[in-house]
Amino acid sequence: SNRTFTMIKPDAMKNGHAGAILDKIIKGGFRIVALKQTHLSEVKAGQFYEVHKERPFYGELVEFMSSGVIIAAILEKENAVADFRTLIGATDPAKADEGTIRKLFATSVGENAVHGSDSEENAKIEGDFFFSGLEQF
Ligand code: GTP
Ligand code: MG
Repeated sequence: SNRTFTMIKPDAMKNGHAGAILDKIIKGGFRIVALKQTHLSEVKAGQFYEVHKERPFYGELVEFMSSGVIIAAILEKENAVADFRTLIGATDPAKADEGTIRKLFATSVGENAVHGSDSEENAKIEGDFFFSGLEQF
């Protein structure tokens, strides 16, 4: 597939960066397949990040991701998963390349502005978590 999944996280939403982030995504050559503003309950955030449940930061991550509204979106581009991770930069903004979304808009390794799927398989699972089949055109 040529799709990936992203979220604009609560820190970037609260800091007023949603518009600038969407602008970088579109200018980066991604087509928006599906998009919504929503809020993750703690239970839903825990389910989304279930793969990280043994990691020491899991509790913090779930609390943060349920702390405010987010924007969830499915994006399309050739080589979408890898190209999107290049566009967002390293998990820790201090280590992210100049010009990347996290370098520009993230606060810390935990509050890092955006999510990007790490594989095509996970992109599909994560997109389906938020959007019905009919919404994915
Ligand atoms: P995502 O695109 O959000 O999945 O980020 P990633 O793939 O770059 O990182 P990873 O999947 O390893 O971790 C998922 C998320 O957990 C990160 O984006 C951070 O929000 C959070 N996280 C990762 N490492 C740490 C950490 O050391 N401390 C805290 N508080 N949060 C972390
Ligand atoms: Mg990840």
